[in-house]
Amino acid sequence: MTTIFHLRQWKQKKHKFASITAYDAAFSRLFDEQGIQVMLVGDSLGMSTQGRNSTLPVTMQDMVYHTLCVRRGAPSCLLLTDLPFMSYATPSQAFDNAAALMRAGANMVKLEGGAWLADTVSALIERGVPVCGHLGLTPQSVNIFGGYKIQGRNAVGADQLLTDAKVLEQAGIQLLVLECVPATLAGLVTHELNIPVIGIGAGAMTDGQILVMQDVLGITGNSAPSFAKDFLAAGGDIATAVRLYVQEVETGQFPASEHSFNYEGDSRADYQNATNATSEDQTVASGT
Ligand code: KIV
Repeated sequence: MTTIFHLRQWKQKKHKFASITAYDAAFSRLFDEQGIQVMLVGDSLGMSTQGRNSTLPVTMQDMVYHTLCVRRGAPSCLLLTDLPFMSYATPSQAFDNAAALMRAGANMVKLEGGAWLADTVSALIERGVPVCGHLGLTPQSVNIFGGYKIQGRNAVGADQLLTDAKVLEQAGIQLLVLECVPATLAGLVTHELNIPVIGIGAGAMTDGQILVMQDVLGITGNSAPSFAKDFLAAGGDIATAVRLYVQEVETGQFPASEHSFNYEGDSRADYQNATNATSEDQTVASGT
């Protein structure tokens, strides 16, 4: 059984790990067999599985159903499940909905947002629910961002993200997902936090990586994000593709620089490595 204890050890030993989204038992079994020990029932299922154009319509009923399915296929993985849009708007909603996900087989719930969630996070932890934070491009806020845009590219955004990460760690999150942020910023956050950090479109310096399973298998179509890689093209079959993904993450081959974003702000000491600025308003085609 993989637990958060193993992820903390991997961080200390600098052992990079691959995780993936899963939505059903057939795939979670295969992922488990190919060495993936951390899976996420992401609300990305709204797009990747239900064919919608955002995660917003996904319900608690959907998340419970898919969590039950994934857990049956992979009884011993560390399983994270997303609390969907508006299911944690108040602490009391968060308690009820997190309990439903834990009863369905999740080991940890993930929620999107910064410092405003600190009280909810500590109250969940006190009640026995482990929490994973999610910062950067948080798809439930797509209408606030005005699209799927890379976050933390200037000094204000980067400072805000680092502050949010520290506040959430202080509140008790045990894991953090960073999505679509500059590689140097993700590296800094990973270095500053004691908890493991998992990146998606966040460069090579995070402790682990996660991808949406359809992106790993190259079946997302035209909306495949630029940070993803089609491992099926090289692997030839699904099992080999997944194994290749795991190997490339563990050996540091994935993500390469073409799967990462650069920092564009002032050349402050913290972010000095950032080079090769591109458009500030770049939109990420995203299945997340
Ligand atoms: O919903 C999701 O699949 C996610 C990951 C891509 C991090 O949040």
